[in-house]
Amino acid sequence: MKTANQDIKPITTKINSNGNIEIGGCDLVELANKYSTPLYVFDEATIRGITKSYKEAFKSYPKMNMMFASKAFMTKAICRIMEEEGFGLDLCSGGEIYTAHSAGFNMAKTLFNGNNKSFDELNMALEYGVGTISCDNFFELALLNNIAQSQNKKVRILLRITPGIECHTHEYIQTGHLDSKFGFDLTQIDEAIELIKDEYLNLNLVGLHAHIGSQIFEKQVYYDEIDVIFNEIKRIKDKFNIELHEINIGGGLGIKYTEDDKPISIYEIAETITESIEVHCKKYNIDEPVLFIEPGRSIVGTAGVTLYTAGSSKQVPNGRKYQAVDGGMSDNPRPSLYQAKYTVEIANNPNGTPNETVTIAGKHCESGDILAKDIMLPEIEEGDTICFYNTGAYGYSMSSNYNRVLKPAAVLVNNGKSDIIINRQTYEQLCESDIIPDRLSNKC
Ligand code: LLP
Repeated sequence: MKTANQDIKPITTKINSNGNIEIGGCDLVELANKYSTPLYVFDEATIRGITKSYKEAFKSYPKMNMMFASKAFMTKAICRIMEEEGFGLDLCSGGEIYTAHSAGFNMAKTLFNGNNKSFDELNMALEYGVGTISCDNFFELALLNNIAQSQNKKVRILLRITPGIECHTHEYIQTGHLDSKFGFDLTQIDEAIELIKDEYLNLNLVGLHAHIGSQIFEKQVYYDEIDVIFNEIKRIKDKFNIELHEINIGGGLGIKYTEDDKPISIYEIAETITESIEVHCKKYNIDEPVLFIEPGRSIVGTAGVTLYTAGSSKQVPNGRKYQAVDGGMSDNPRPSLYQAKYTVEIANNPNGTPNETVTIAGKHCESGDILAKDIMLPEIEEGDTICFYNTGAYGYSMSSNYNRVLKPAAVLVNNGKSDIIINRQTYEQLCESDIIPDRLSNKC
């Protein structure tokens, strides 16, 4: 069965009686007028639909822990939706822990990841009651054990391992290959276990964790990842007589940014994962482990679009036509970072004939600030509302104030209602952390 990550547009997208694009029952042109642009628009039905697909696809596996990788899009409202849908949260910084906690999220259902967690972050994780910590390296094991000791706690940990699996995705978003900065090399696991067993008595090792990369289109890599994890579990059992009952296989399922992308469905990936677990449990005579998955992009990516207003345009004589919009690499750095491609439409003219090759440029002082290069669109007029699909994941979460451009607002749409979930930043907020030291204050 097809799932929403295999479509370019949010599930509620249609053209309404005004001839405009509508999502979640809301006219995108009206949203642009009401909230101004750039604007992130999130379709609640698509987010919830995807979480339901995950639950349905894994329903044959009872020991399931679905965690939303909040790095893809983290706000208090999304924490609420995830909680309602029965998802936990994968957190990877003090900021994400703080956000989840301030949203009132059940912290026992959170997991803390990262390759350089600080003393303060680990301390905070324990104080706030984060459920599980995925330990990445020797330094962290020692640090965490000390903190746990000082708080008189025994902490549930997973060991993050590097499974040595390469997936075919952009080099910057591969993580499971052997020389990755994340996790213990397979040859270091035994030393880590010796330490936990003999010295780090405030750590309770419950399982192994791996994550192979992001925007993955293949099933086989998950099968192979599980193979590596089970080989280690079996080896650890034989060598140390320690039984690990939990595995975390990370996130990574891809979405469809353009017609060239062919992501697999959530059902297909669930089948591969559960089949691989079944085969390996039989092979090694091991009980089915608790299974964590941490999808991020596939949960919120398709649900989100970004609206811009068309501004200046430039026809280079005998060259490109540029159409500038009122945002750019500060609200979406993915095109300049990863050469990411997007599907674009004119929200107030979705039925126009694409008869012009145009390059959509951002407003930042940088030639590389191009959001979409040489795409076919109907002729754009100044003031048009330009819609970029599939910006829900790693858009807002990677946004910046480059050129002191304000971070956009985000709205959640559903059944004709739109609610602000992130306010547009103000100039006052932009400057609120700035301090002029006294010795520079003569002028004032
Ligand atoms: N778990 C771990 C340990 C991760 O590092 C990540 C993503 C995920 C889960 C979620 O992966 P997802 O399901 O979203 O693929 N900024 C890049 C993506 C970086 C992904 C980092 N880790 C981009 O915009 O493409």
